[in-house]
Amino acid sequence: MKILFVSVSKIFLVSLTMMAMTILMSQQDVKAQEGKSLFLSKGCIACHGPEGKGVANIENTPYPRLAGQNPTYLLNQLKALKSGARKGAMAVMMQPFAMTMSAAEMKKISDYLGAVK
Ligand code: HEC
Repeated sequence: MKILFVSVSKIFLVSLTMMAMTILMSQQDVKAQEGKSLFLSKGCIACHGPEGKGVANIENTPYPRLAGQNPTYLLNQLKALKSGARKGAMAVMMQPFAMTMSAAEMKKISDYLGAVK
């Protein structure tokens, strides 16, 4: 009886863990999807290309590739562009778009871009 109880509770624990993992994973999916939608709806692809992979057909493009970049780095750059701490002729081009993002949106977009393969 005790053996049976142990194995039943083990199965219960395993399925509980799996359920929790499924919920956590789908929450991550939702966040990534939000980041992607923001990237599309805010017009970022015009300069950074679909999925932030850059615009390959423009020679010497001044628009950086963002896909696969470290998300913390991207987030810090967006904050610096918004605040004006990051300066330069090209930063001026990017700044108005940085202004359209809240801190939470920046985080979602940075996480999405960092995960693009
Ligand atoms: C009009 C063109 C344009 C649009 C639209 C645009 N960007 Fe940019 N972005 C740039 C340019 C140019 C730079 C490089 C700035 C520099 O050299 O300082 C840049 C830089 C960046 C960087 C820093 C990259 C790095 O490697 O340091 C991030 C992150 C970024 N953009 C995200 C976005 C997001 C998110 C959006 C949409 C909300 C967006 N951009 C819309 C032109 C644009």
